[in-house]
Amino acid sequence: MPISPSAALLPCAELHLHIEGTLEPELIFELADRNGIDLPYADLEELRARYQFTDLQSFLDLYYSNMEVLRTGADFAAMTRAYLRRAAAAGVRHVEMMVDPQAHLLRGVPLEECINGVAGVLATSLEEFGISTVLIAAFLRDRPIAEAEDVLRQLLAMDAPIAAIGLDSAEVGNPPEGFVELYRMASAAGLKCVAHAGEEGPAHYVEQALDLLKADRIDHGIRALDDPALVARLVRDRVPLTVCPLSNVRLRAVDTLADHPLPQMLALGLNVSVNSDDPAYFDGYVDDNFAALQRTFGFSPDQLAELAVNSVESSFASGERRAELL
Ligand code: ADE
Ligand code: ZN
Repeated sequence: MPISPSAALLPCAELHLHIEGTLEPELIFELADRNGIDLPYADLEELRARYQFTDLQSFLDLYYSNMEVLRTGADFAAMTRAYLRRAAAAGVRHVEMMVDPQAHLLRGVPLEECINGVAGVLATSLEEFGISTVLIAAFLRDRPIAEAEDVLRQLLAMDAPIAAIGLDSAEVGNPPEGFVELYRMASAAGLKCVAHAGEEGPAHYVEQALDLLKADRIDHGIRALDDPALVARLVRDRVPLTVCPLSNVRLRAVDTLADHPLPQMLALGLNVSVNSDDPAYFDGYVDDNFAALQRTFGFSPDQLAELAVNSVESSFASGERRAELL
C-alpha cells in the first residue's frame, strides 16, 4: 500500500521496537497465570501504578522484572502476535523488531524458546498481518562484553534468523567503544548493525557508534543535537535516527512533548523516523506517537510523508518491498 500522508493512520515502517516492551499488563497477568508465577502486584491497577518513570534505569528495572513471565516459545509467540495485530491497526507495514536474547538466557530461558517463539510468528506476519519483518538481536551494554560475544556466537551457531544486531539497556557509562569486537563479528557474519546512542548518553557516543561499531542506524540519537559538527555529518551522510517521542517524554529525556527536538531535527535535514520503542510502557504505539506529535506540533502533510518515507528508506527491507511501500 503506497504511503499517503494522513495524520490519522500513516502507513510506515517501525524501526525501533523492543518486542519485550510490547508486553501489555493484561498479557503479563495471563502469562504469569499460565506459568504459575507469583507476580509482586495484586492486580492490573497495582502493576499500572508502577508505570511512572524518572529515567531510563527506572523503566529498565520494571521491564526486566516483567520479562519473568516469558518462559516458553508459546509465550514469546503470544507477545509477538499481539504486537503485530496492534501494529497493523497502527498503520505499520514493515517492522524491524529487537529482542533481548541475553536477558532471557540469563533467566535460564533457552535461546531456542526465545528466538524460535518470536521468529515463528514473524515467518507468517506478511500473510497474516500485511507486515514484513526483520529480527534484530540486541545486546545488553550494562552486562560483561564477553557475555554478549558469547551469546552472538551461540546465535550464529544455531543459524538464528536475525538480520542485524543492536545495543541497548543502560547507556550512560557503557559507551559503544567496548563492543567493537561484537560488531566486527556480526558484520563478518553478514549482519547489519544498529545501536542505541544519544538517548541519555552524550553526543560522542553517537560518534563512537558510527566510527567504531560502523552502525548503519542510530536508535534515538537526540543528544547528537548538542554537537553541531556531528549534526552536519549526520545530515551529510543521511544517517538514520530512529526517534521515539513518547518514550523520550516518559523517560524524561525531554521535559514535555512540546520540548521534543523532532521538529528541529526535521528542519535541520536529519533523516529521522518516528517509533514507539516500548509501547506498552510509554502510552502508545506508533499511531499514538504520530497523533501526539500532530496535536503538539501540527505537522504538515509533507512533514508526515517525509517521516514515513524516511522510515521505509532507512529500513533493511528488500528493494522490492521498499518499492511496494513507497
Ligand atoms: N531496552 C528497552 N527499551 C530501551 C530503551 N528505551 N533504551 C535502552 N534500552 C532499552
Ligand atoms: Zn529502544
